[in-house]
Amino acid sequence: MTAHSDQRALHEEPTSFIGRERELSELREFVRTARALTLCGTGGIGKSRLAVRMLATLSGEFPDGVWFVELGDLQPDLVVSHVASALGVVEEPGRPMLETLAAALAPRRLLLALDNCEHVIDAAARLCQRLLASSPGLRVIATSREPLRVAAEVAYQVPPLSVPPRGVVTLAELSGYEAVRLFADRAAAVVPGFAIRPGDVAAVATLCRALDGVPLAIELAAAWARVLSVAQIAARLADSFQLLTAADAAAPPRQRTLRATIDWSYELLTSRERLMLRRLSVFAGWSLDMAEEVCAGDDLPADDVLDLVAALVDKSLVVVEPEVLGQARYRLLDTIREYAAERLAEAGEAAAAHRRLRDYSLREVEHAMAVGMGIIAAPWSARVNVFRRYDVDAGNALQVLSRCLADRDVETGLRMCTAIRPCWIVRGSFAEGAEWFDEFLAIDAPRLAAGVRGPALVGRAQLALSTDPAGARQWAEEGLALCRAAGSEFWVASALNLLAEVALHTGRTDEAALRADEALSLARESGDGWNEGYALGSLAAAAGRRGSLREAQELADASIGVMRGIDQQWGAARALLGLGDLARLRGDPDSARERYLQALVILREIDSRPEIARCLAGLARLALDQGALAPARRHLAESLRLSQSTGSRISVARGIEAFAALAAGEGRPDRAVQLVAAGATLREAARLPPLSGAKTEQYLAAARDLGEPAIQRLWASGSGMTTESAVALALDESGPALDESGPALDGAGPARPPAAAASRPVTAAALPAGLTPRERQIVGLIVTGRSNKAIAAELFISPATVARHVANILAKLGFSSRSQVAAWASEGSYPGSISAESVSRSLRRARS
Ligand SMILES: Nc1ncnc2c1ncn2[C@@H]1O[C@H](COP(=O)(O)OP(=O)(O)OP(=O)(O)O)[C@@H](O)[C@H]1O
Ligand SMILES: [Mg+2]
Repeated sequence: MTAHSDQRALHEEPTSFIGRERELSELREFVRTARALTLCGTGGIGKSRLAVRMLATLSGEFPDGVWFVELGDLQPDLVVSHVASALGVVEEPGRPMLETLAAALAPRRLLLALDNCEHVIDAAARLCQRLLASSPGLRVIATSREPLRVAAEVAYQVPPLSVPPRGVVTLAELSGYEAVRLFADRAAAVVPGFAIRPGDVAAVATLCRALDGVPLAIELAAAWARVLSVAQIAARLADSFQLLTAADAAAPPRQRTLRATIDWSYELLTSRERLMLRRLSVFAGWSLDMAEEVCAGDDLPADDVLDLVAALVDKSLVVVEPEVLGQARYRLLDTIREYAAERLAEAGEAAAAHRRLRDYSLREVEHAMAVGMGIIAAPWSARVNVFRRYDVDAGNALQVLSRCLADRDVETGLRMCTAIRPCWIVRGSFAEGAEWFDEFLAIDAPRLAAGVRGPALVGRAQLALSTDPAGARQWAEEGLALCRAAGSEFWVASALNLLAEVALHTGRTDEAALRADEALSLARESGDGWNEGYALGSLAAAAGRRGSLREAQELADASIGVMRGIDQQWGAARALLGLGDLARLRGDPDSARERYLQALVILREIDSRPEIARCLAGLARLALDQGALAPARRHLAESLRLSQSTGSRISVARGIEAFAALAAGEGRPDRAVQLVAAGATLREAARLPPLSGAKTEQYLAAARDLGEPAIQRLWASGSGMTTESAVALALDESGPALDESGPALDGAGPARPPAAAASRPVTAAALPAGLTPRERQIVGLIVTGRSNKAIAAELFISPATVARHVANILAKLGFSSRSQVAAWASEGSYPGSISAESVSRSLRRARS
């Protein structure tokens, strides 16, 4: 996979990067030898910029990418989930996030930069320690005002830029110093054609020395070149430095210089520019619209905001970032932001400014949710933008959440969480979302309205759906009662839909249908398309589980119709996925493929990673059913890599097992055995239910020619594999040769079923004679007691064709009646195929 990172590192650097050649080559050496490197130094010395630069130059050396994660605004206890979510690693049932993250990173060779660790130094240190211990291919670069103090850390003091010593007299000499080059470059940015003239040599040299070569200070000074001469800048700064207070004098010299430079720059601003700068300190990053909404007021008309921001950009106090969704973005450098926040507090304006950001953010996220969930009419493109916008503005939202937590403002906190939840789900940030919900839900708030707590509990339940169904059920039930009390139809329907999904996840099909039915009628009454479409999708899944394929098909079509009617393509994609599965089951590969592909386009648009992996797995199984091995491999590989990158062990196990089926198809039965065994080990380690005996047998069927001792050896070698080596084996594309140490194929002799194929799951039962996928489907339907006519209706084929298939099945299995087939299948020897997953589930239910 190619390199990834958080926005900032991926961007082109907004201004030119000056010098640091020696530092960069030293640091490159350190990264090769030391596993943890901390760039230390005072604010504005250039730590973050150097880290970003290193990532860019080193990205080629890390096959699993370079990642830049900012920790600046975080609460210490959210560091782990934030890093996990930045790396796309999702929570797993019953497993601490740190363990999941460590396991996901264990096999990877990647470079992780953690920016601004000083605020969360202990949490960052613990995280590094843990990850480095289990990931030999991991390198960490931290930036921090102080070292992390973890084992194996190299703390690197970032030096100031080089400055000319006294006595430098010529222009040529001057330009050899980094500080001078930075000054000239930044001055040229505000005064086109700016060049240092021979007469300015002394002033520039003095200035750079006075500023101690601190890049931020130099940038701030250079910004004034538009209105002041170099000599004036130098003189005024010198005056201002003399005014340093005693308190300032106690600080380390470079910090003092910077502080004085910022003070100086601030004092030169107009009073409205100062007001603007102070208010902007509430943002982690902003667009013009946001600044107008949050910072304007009686004392500062919204119409003036653009000019004021532009003025601050000119003075290097505000950084312009690449545009997002057609809007320019801005941010304050950390040091400037801290300074401005201090000034905001001194002016007694902090509480009001934060309240405005809070109110604005709440309005925005609630509106975004209404758009995202189709509650209000909007085109699909607007819904896609909700997720993109979240990626950019999450920093502000999280900050508001932190403040609400500190102020014990449970109502706003929970409303924000409820509104952000769809984004957490699409991005797979389940753990991060769950933690926020739990923090607020734990606060005793007796006067909290049912209309706030109810939806929040439903939201909390949804985040737990795939990790903790029992908990999800409890939260959703409690949420449902509160939503009913509050009379909120949308949320009652949402809660019912969620309960239907929980029931589907836990095999309670009838309950699922009941809940979904109630959600459906409620949603229809209130004209709520999202919940109507959702309920239809769950009803389709329930019908599929019961084996009523035709009904399932009709319901899923209806779900898509409703979702498309409100232009909610995400909902349509979910139903399309279900329809793809159904079509595969019904033996209609063409329409299955079409459905999957339609869903995939939509899912990629919003980058819904867990669902993309599912969709690709469906395409792969389809290709496998048809013996199209190359496309099967391609889809499976992408799906498995995606699952591995999110750290979900259940998906990785399923992926490895699907590769076993592929290996069998590719004529590599030895590998199939190893992979099935590796999958079994992984399931055991993750406390997941084992693969059904039937499926295990099916995957191993191809290996029976190898003979029992060989199968046993292969099984042992596969079950001893680490997940990483199993994934590597699965993805390996080399030819069908057997492992050197492995057994040899014993000639081209006749097929000979082993007496006992292997010591574990493979039972002594005769491995099934080759039933075609269609025949396997029909076996599934025979077991549910259907007549030929009913089967024909399900499969959209004629009863005569069904009769012919049934005759073939009887002949192949050596039976004389359907009831023998049903009994045989129910005993567990049924070759439930990956293409008939839901049929085999309904078999299990029919048995119980
Ligand atoms: N080598 C360089 N070339 C050009 N600009 C630089 C260089 N180093 C730093 N800068 C600029 O100086 C300013 C401060 O740098 P940076 O933000 O990296 O400092 P920092 O040490 O991370 O500060 P903080 O502790 O506040 O996070 C930024 O505007 C940055 O672009
Ligand atoms: Mg920094």
